[in-house]
Amino acid sequence: MSTYYAGESSRTLAAEPQSVPSIVDSSPSETRRAITLGIIGGGQLAKMTAQAASQLGCEVVILERQAEFPAGSLATRTLIGDWDEPESLLELAALVDVVTLENEFVQTNSLATLEHHGHKLWPSSAMMRLIQDKLAQKQTLAGAGLPVPRMRAVERTEDVVATATEWGLPLLLKARRNAYDGKGNVTLRAVADIEMAWRKLGGHHGNALFAEQFCPFTNELAVIVTRGVNGEVATYPVVETVQRDHICHLVRAPAPVAPEIAGLAAELARSAVAAVAAVGTFGVEMFLTGDGEILVNELAPRVHNSGHYTIEACHCSQFENHVRAVLGWPLGSPTLRTPAAVMVNLLASTDGPGTPNGLGDALRVEGAHVHIYGKARSGKGRKMGHVTATGATLEEAFAVAQCAADCISFG
Ligand SMILES: Nc1ncnc2c1ncn2[C@@H]1O[C@H](COP(=O)(O)OP(=O)(O)OP(=O)(O)O)[C@@H](O)[C@H]1O
Ligand SMILES: [Mg+2]
Repeated sequence: MSTYYAGESSRTLAAEPQSVPSIVDSSPSETRRAITLGIIGGGQLAKMTAQAASQLGCEVVILERQAEFPAGSLATRTLIGDWDEPESLLELAALVDVVTLENEFVQTNSLATLEHHGHKLWPSSAMMRLIQDKLAQKQTLAGAGLPVPRMRAVERTEDVVATATEWGLPLLLKARRNAYDGKGNVTLRAVADIEMAWRKLGGHHGNALFAEQFCPFTNELAVIVTRGVNGEVATYPVVETVQRDHICHLVRAPAPVAPEIAGLAAELARSAVAAVAAVGTFGVEMFLTGDGEILVNELAPRVHNSGHYTIEACHCSQFENHVRAVLGWPLGSPTLRTPAAVMVNLLASTDGPGTPNGLGDALRVEGAHVHIYGKARSGKGRKMGHVTATGATLEEAFAVAQCAADCISFG
């Protein structure tokens, strides 16, 4: 449906014109009512989405499980309840025009209840069901002709031993569900690692696992893609993500790769999102190998850490485009308005209160955009905030962002 120009982020328009809901409800009573977005989950992703929604004149209602959460101060209204319970979800949906999610770990049967009652939910429960199972997700992508690492379901440790013998080591053992920030992954370097990895991932408690071929990547790439209800697509620039211990530390935009690599990555990302008939903003994670091959690692069915830089660096952020997409509004331009941008995550080193130390020093760094999520507690490796800087080059942007990030600690 669209033409892609290698190396550039792009926006494609659906053939059908968008129907744009009015912000003002012209009901007979003539009472003004803002378009209201419901978000399941109130973490930092909901917070930044709520900021974008508010800018567009929308109200936001958030369903959270506990009373203190990052997006709390931005919500027009908060519901405290279990998002796996259909009753809580229906209560949320009754207050809003459209429901969306900030995390992918919600029971899909409960989500489907919303659709059965005629509420709008984006992404859909069927798509969430597919994405939640990482193996099924990858098999769907492979079925659509996308390159993914070799993978197979394993039901007992003997299956992992057989896979290691057949494919060689290293090998990854991964949880099919509920994995994030590398918590559901173990790299197996020797057959002797298998037993411990199996237990660590809960295989002995019946957690479904799969084996995945180790990809000897030189770089990890990511692309944010927003897809509207009517098929309109906005593809953000290809970025490089740098992980340590399976957790994202740094994002470089645009990725320092050849234009044809950027072009291929963007094309794959767009195809991956189309393969699951997505609506909303998605993060597509990829591996780039030394010989220029790109494998799709996975899709995140939501705004994504690799797209936080878009707030300051792009014409329309991933958050604003998510709001626009789920409301059926026209998408904004995903192109960069600066030659380069770097985002550095602020990760806690220990457990403690969520308040940052050294914020004053960070705020003195010119050009650094500091985001503190306002989490009630820190925990080792927990994402507590991020810093973005833009610049003429990646080096320049990195120096500013890292300088501010170095000032801040949690715990
Ligand atoms: N097949 C693989 N080969 C090599 N490294 C891998 C492989 N799969 C995962 N990794 C490494 O582990 C990181 C996290 O993996 P993955 O994205 O599958 O897990 P996750 O728990 O969903 O993490 P996140 O929430 O950060 O996306 C990857 O970014 C990569 O650095
Ligand atoms: Mg991942």
